[in-house]
Amino acid sequence: MKITKICCIGAGYVGGPTMAVIAQKCPHIQVTVVDLNEERIAAWNDENVENIPIYEPGLDKIVAEARGRNLFFSTNVDQAIDEAQIIFISVNTPTKTYGKGKGMAADLKYIELCARQIARVSKSDKIVVEKSTLPVRTAEAIKSILDNTGNGVQFQILSNPEFLAEGTAVTDLLNPDRILIGGDSSEEGQKAIQALVDVYSNWVAKDKILTTNVWSSELSKLTANAFLAQRISSINAMSELCEKTGADVNEVAKAIGMDSRIGSKFLKSSVGFGGSCFQKDILNLVYIAKSYGLNEVADYWEQVIIMNDYQKRRFSNTIVKTLYNTVADKKIAFLGWAFKKDTNDTRESAAIYVADDLINEQANIAVYDPKVSGKKVLADLDYLETRSSEKNKKGIVSFEDPYLACKDAHAIAVLTEWDEFKGYDWKRIYESMQKPAFIFDGRNILNRSEMESIGFIYQGIGS
Ligand code: NAD
Ligand code: UGA
Repeated sequence: MKITKICCIGAGYVGGPTMAVIAQKCPHIQVTVVDLNEERIAAWNDENVENIPIYEPGLDKIVAEARGRNLFFSTNVDQAIDEAQIIFISVNTPTKTYGKGKGMAADLKYIELCARQIARVSKSDKIVVEKSTLPVRTAEAIKSILDNTGNGVQFQILSNPEFLAEGTAVTDLLNPDRILIGGDSSEEGQKAIQALVDVYSNWVAKDKILTTNVWSSELSKLTANAFLAQRISSINAMSELCEKTGADVNEVAKAIGMDSRIGSKFLKSSVGFGGSCFQKDILNLVYIAKSYGLNEVADYWEQVIIMNDYQKRRFSNTIVKTLYNTVADKKIAFLGWAFKKDTNDTRESAAIYVADDLINEQANIAVYDPKVSGKKVLADLDYLETRSSEKNKKGIVSFEDPYLACKDAHAIAVLTEWDEFKGYDWKRIYESMQKPAFIFDGRNILNRSEMESIGFIYQGIGS
């Protein structure tokens, strides 16, 4: 089947960049990204490409090249479904906040809505691709909805999980380690797989495109995230032991990472992993394991989350303890609010939880982040519902200038590893602060001896 029209439901951090790259690499395919969120679609269509809703290095250029040529953003979901041969589902799959599985299971209501809409609208055969991260065996439910509520047309369901990381989405999409496509073993299933393989083959080498059965593909995505997050919790567990023993976690990470069986990536100790996926996907894995009665399996993976929560709390406790056991009425500057550098995404950012702890201790937080607005910072805190929005407003203020954020502060906490922090005039910052001036480097990005020579009392993670 020659593919000329693709639709993607969900114009978020995955749908937007993924489809932009497909459109750029496949000028012969018309790609339409649809979303219910009118504001988001309007931002994707903003004449000034710098205003697209997602910040990713290099994404603006790709959108500028393809938008209006073969890349379109629209709120007309029905029309896009109707016209497409392949429909990607890239909607959010957050942790359930209600009912059975509350706090653990993935909330599949948005997925089900998409399936019902595809079934209702489709008047020709379609390939439906799970791009969202889903519990293993979700394809079964999607198929049942499509077959039972559809108009008699044929649907093939493929699983094609996305492995991009935010902040490096464009390079990850252009040079993926692998593309994973799971599908049915029937002749129709194999044809559908081949159609999607052909799309990716426009820029990805054949040996990097892996095809499997649907369940392996669905489960591989959860497994990949669990393994990645596990490495962070493992090194973070070691960071506390390093602090007690005089070992340095950066040196330990380097030493173990040089063993090619371990590898050097994802061994950076930090204030804890954030982001929209690691926590939700591991909780989902734990829930799935429990639902099959595999309690030991569930407990094993849950410990990754327990360790991560502990690491965030440990960081705020260290700040309080070091500042003579009280931070009440003290200004503490936060450098960074995003969950990692090069993104404007703040979902589950460690900064939110550290700020919440410190506001409980009546500290005054001053935030600077190059890509996150003050409005977003407040909304993130309000979302926790620890205290009223009025109280949050008193506890936290955002600045557009890092030097003003740090002025008169008792301490600086580095929460995100933005490169620009390293190049600041740290002497000037030191001179503008209360003394003694402390730096709590939650990302180990600043040079300890340089900071100490300026006069700071410097505390990194794990040393
Ligand atoms: P997101 O919240 O940024 O985007 C999802 C979008 O879907 C939203 O804009 C929402 O309005 C839209 N939507 C929801 N229901 C809809 C419907 N019925 N019709 C039309 N639009 C609808 O989420 P995201 O970060 O892009 O993640 C999407 C999925 O991809 C999740 O399952 C996530 O686990 C997975 N994933 C995310 C990343 C990442 O780095 N963010 C990476 C790999 C996989
Ligand atoms: C992660 C995975 O890396 C992607 O492969 C996956 O597609 C994605 O989740 C997803 O499914 O959503 P992402 O969360 O965007 O990507 O970013 P990461 O680079 O994985 O960072 C996650 C968190 O871990 C960040 O807070 C980061 O600072 C932290 N981290 C990462 C560490 O603390 N140490 C490390 O060594 C690496």
